[in-house]
Amino acid sequence: MSKYRIPFSKPALVGNEIEYISQAVRGGHASGDGPFTKKCHSLLEEALGIPKTLLTTSCTHALEMAALLLDIQPGDEVIVPSFTFVTTVNAFVLRGARPVFIDIRPDTLNMDERSLEDLITPRTKAIIPVHYAGVGCEMNTICEIADRHNVPIVEDNAHGLFAKYKTRWLGTFGALAALSFHETKNFICGEGGALLINDPQYIERAEIVREKGTNRSRFFRGQVDKYTWVDIGSSYLPSDILAAYLFAQLEAREHVLAQRKRVFEHYVERLQDWAQMNDVRLPTVPPYCEQSYHMFYMLLPSLEKRKNLIAHLKDKSILSVFHYLPLHLSPMGRKWGYQEGDCPVTEEVSDRLVRLPFYNELSPEQQQTVCAAIFESW
Ligand SMILES: Cc1ncc(COP(=O)(O)O)c(C=O)c1O
Repeated sequence: MSKYRIPFSKPALVGNEIEYISQAVRGGHASGDGPFTKKCHSLLEEALGIPKTLLTTSCTHALEMAALLLDIQPGDEVIVPSFTFVTTVNAFVLRGARPVFIDIRPDTLNMDERSLEDLITPRTKAIIPVHYAGVGCEMNTICEIADRHNVPIVEDNAHGLFAKYKTRWLGTFGALAALSFHETKNFICGEGGALLINDPQYIERAEIVREKGTNRSRFFRGQVDKYTWVDIGSSYLPSDILAAYLFAQLEAREHVLAQRKRVFEHYVERLQDWAQMNDVRLPTVPPYCEQSYHMFYMLLPSLEKRKNLIAHLKDKSILSVFHYLPLHLSPMGRKWGYQEGDCPVTEEVSDRLVRLPFYNELSPEQQQTVCAAIFESW
């Protein structure tokens, strides 16, 4: 139970989770790649129209797999926003990569594709767009630049499963893409993720890397008569109990997305006039982007205003939170020589952004309470 009257996030049961978990526990195959994992793979592959999905233990681990599959070596560069979660970058730094931080667009807060080409060098081994809040990056331009320079794209789609950019699903543009099923995301299993493989050349090695560097998947399919150590790898497959939880969530995707859409639209309806009058910016969603309704954020006029608002909501037992601190200014980022002013939009947005309570079951009455407290704090 949250200590807040209105918490920031709240995991929900949306269908057959308990029944499927019970089946997974009783069914005799609770380790990885059991029947529910296979169901999740098929569901995602069919829904997104992609050749291969592999469930992982987290989005972080899917990104680590991507770094292994792209053979990232010490000294290689990856272009990545500074405004993101630490593991978008860390997964590649673990292999020895140097992060080349790109600033974000002031509207969608996504990678600013207008500065992408200037950052590409002969050492660039990956471009990593993060679809912030489940609103698509400018993928036409990003893909065009990446193709021209022959650099693979890895999409960090932790926020944007079942969102679209210009009618195409997010997560289907890059050679590889990563999803998160952490309990704060739209579709959850506690901790979990997936690697989406759009470029078939990575499929066979992805199975090996995920299975401790062995060809165990080929063995289970009867393609080899014993399995052995063939590559580097780790253990990235989740228990089938978690896959059972996730499958129930994915089956209910339309219901989940409809609920979250309602919450998002209700905030817009209640806040837009006030925002306009008070120099507050609500999320920008370009008309050609179908978002995933992952979160609702506001950009306030100043850091001071944000501090006051978060404190006032806390007094009312409502939890609102800020988001990413610029990674280029973290102790790790500074080791590569990054400093203030290197990603000015990121630095400025990071100080002013606040996220409001957002979860499937947030009721219009609770949203009314949140909005009333916001108006009162001003
Ligand atoms: C953009 C982004 N990428 C990756 C992650 C990591 O996800 P996970 O907790 O599944 O490893 C997060 C988590 O919040 C995230 O926001």
